[in-house]
Amino acid sequence: MINVLTELAQHVADGLHRTPKALSSMYFYDDAGSRLFQQIMELPEYYPTRTEFSIFQEHGAAIAAALSPRVGEEFALVELGAGDGAKTKLLLRELLRAGTPFTYAPVDISAGAMTGLVEALRHELPTLHVAPVVEDYATALAQLRTRPGNKAVLFLGSNIGNFGPAERLDFLRQLAAPLAPADRLLIGFDLQKDPRRIRAAYDDAQGVTAAFNLNLLTRLNRELGADFNLAHWQHYTDYNPLNGAVRSYLMSTQAQQVRIAALDETFDFAAWEVIHTENSYKFTLPQIAELAAETGLRVVASFTDAATDFADVVLATQEE
Ligand code: AVI
Repeated sequence: MINVLTELAQHVADGLHRTPKALSSMYFYDDAGSRLFQQIMELPEYYPTRTEFSIFQEHGAAIAAALSPRVGEEFALVELGAGDGAKTKLLLRELLRAGTPFTYAPVDISAGAMTGLVEALRHELPTLHVAPVVEDYATALAQLRTRPGNKAVLFLGSNIGNFGPAERLDFLRQLAAPLAPADRLLIGFDLQKDPRRIRAAYDDAQGVTAAFNLNLLTRLNRELGADFNLAHWQHYTDYNPLNGAVRSYLMSTQAQQVRIAALDETFDFAAWEVIHTENSYKFTLPQIAELAAETGLRVVASFTDAATDFADVVLATQEE
């Protein structure tokens, strides 16, 4: 019998054979996970969304101008990981006001999130041209390479922090490659700050972040016929101020075995063993400039909030 594993099954097979075990946070975002992430963004402890929103409120017109340097020339505004687009709507309004014609192409892995966004935009910004794309980043990057015309690419919300250092360089190089000199990239970076605030943002009092992390196991139970007993798993997170990394884990609270029917395999977990499920890196402004230089980019403009908690950085290729 030919057994073709789905991408998720293949990923889980690889990740649970590693030491330490690891799964990608990319798989958090099924429809339930996307809804939990919406709740996280409303939490009192989770400052990044609200801070980036305040940057757009304060500097929206200047950011819009930096994104479309060729006034009057049509361009595509591609947003990777658009989610509910709440912050982007501020920018979209500024861009519509500026009058340069553009098409908004939101890209998101969750079909549910995309339907909600497209519906909301139809009501709130009826004159906006929207061309939604339900794909993962890799496919979206490949499409970007063949997209003709001027473009500005948005990668907001410190999504960049979810890559490890090597993946981050690779991703930025791939993003930079198809850019022409007049194209722009806007990236939201969460900045290093009081470690206690950062830790609280990833371990909120209501347990929404815990539910978000644990939802990955529910997904594996449903989609791969796994038998994770959620009563024996906990969300655990730490922040390392030496390298700016928040790491999140699913922790096995007892020695246990988990069977995954789609893999026809049983995995052993020791008491307090973890599955590493997410990185959320925090940056400094000099690190961002260095990252740009290393990936063939230059910083055109940086916008921060008054407390310098978050930065939205406009980047372009090195040749003018
Ligand atoms: C989507 N991403 C930028 C979020 C973050 O802050 O790393 C995901 C998240 N994980 C836990 N809370 C929020």
